[in-house]
Amino acid sequence: MEPMEVLASLDTPAGRADPYPLYAALHEIGEAVAAGPRDVMVVGYDAINAVLRDPGFRVTDATSLNQNFPAWQANPVFVQGADWILNLNAPRHSRIRSLIARAFTARRIAGLEPAIAKMAGELLDAMADRGAGGSAVEFMHDFAYLLPVTVICELIGIPEADREGFRPLARDLAGIFEMHDAETLPAINAAAVELLDYFAALAAKRRDDPRDDLLSDLLAITDSGDGRLTDFELLHNLTLLLVAGFETTTNLLGNGLAVVLQDPAAGGAVRDGSVSPAAFVEEVLRFDSPVQMTSRIGYDTTVAGVPVCRGTEVVAVLGAGNRDPRRFADPGRFDPRRPDGGPLSFGGGAHFCIGAALARLEGAVAFPRLLRRFPTISAAGEPVRRDTLVLRGFDALPVTLG
Ligand code: HEM
Repeated sequence: MEPMEVLASLDTPAGRADPYPLYAALHEIGEAVAAGPRDVMVVGYDAINAVLRDPGFRVTDATSLNQNFPAWQANPVFVQGADWILNLNAPRHSRIRSLIARAFTARRIAGLEPAIAKMAGELLDAMADRGAGGSAVEFMHDFAYLLPVTVICELIGIPEADREGFRPLARDLAGIFEMHDAETLPAINAAAVELLDYFAALAAKRRDDPRDDLLSDLLAITDSGDGRLTDFELLHNLTLLLVAGFETTTNLLGNGLAVVLQDPAAGGAVRDGSVSPAAFVEEVLRFDSPVQMTSRIGYDTTVAGVPVCRGTEVVAVLGAGNRDPRRFADPGRFDPRRPDGGPLSFGGGAHFCIGAALARLEGAVAFPRLLRRFPTISAAGEPVRRDTLVLRGFDALPVTLG
């Protein structure tokens, strides 16, 4: 296949369902492939790492939106998104990220472990009830969506009574990470407005009555009055934490269980302790990355020999880098014992995922509990893949619990 044919095939239902043969074809072409006069796809592990760590490559921020999409300010989601650290370049990025990171400490994340274990246990109990007598249970709905959204709510400090309403809103807002158009944008905007109103009201409550949660910590920084973090920067980045941490981790859980359903021995190894939960999670991240790609705006340079000029869109295909045969032996084989780990699934450089430790912890708590509780868990029908290219996961994974 010609490079352009391979690239065109990626964004088709078949390509989205299984992009890996297409990534393999791209690896044969090179580490980076010109996808048009102003587009480059980067598929090699080292080249992706280099792009993500090179400050010359910038993320799309408000300045680039002004040039390419002047109407952006009419869309609440872009107004919020223009403050998201994901969409900021230095020096604003470093200022806001360092403040958020300060409230997002290793101590706070590690301290969530008992709460995550308790939530996972409750969800597994509910699954056991629903699956009693051999009835099929839908893992994505009954576990994979519920655990991460509950955990992120716990971290931010969203009261239990309010959490139910969050799931559909967070899911709608996460639509911004996929291709969106005039048809899908209104729902995304509506979710952005509703979530922002909610966070503004909750912040007012926490100001009067601070708690031991991330929102109260960030409010203390905002209210120190030295201009380091404004109210809107805080509120907007709360919506980012919600969407960035929710569907991605859901997909880590779903993609991991899908591996076990295909290959029960992989689950057996976690169950009997011969593979550590952390090693299993790392290999799931590499083998079927919940985030398949991210992009940067180029400057005049080359990437793995391919010319890039100022304004070129450079797509770093993380999911392809994780299957690069130059970096990983037999990359299409799921092997949690592989010595050559180190997936690109959380990105790299200045924008490296701020929630990586939390996502890893959720996976490491959830998988052994799930697999020990239901040792003969098996597929109860065809899994349904989400028809998406950037975020990779399942809509439905029906199972029987045994
Ligand atoms: C398996 C789960 C997850 C995956 C695969 C994932 C993946 C990523 C990736 C690839 C990036 C970098 C994007 C880029 O460079 O353009 C990123 C950034 C980010 N992630 Fe995650 N993420 C996960 C879970 C989480 C969680 C649980 C949270 C929050 C609680 C979170 C919050 C963020 C934030 C705020 C950023 C932006 C960081 C910045 O731009 O400085 N993520 N994530």
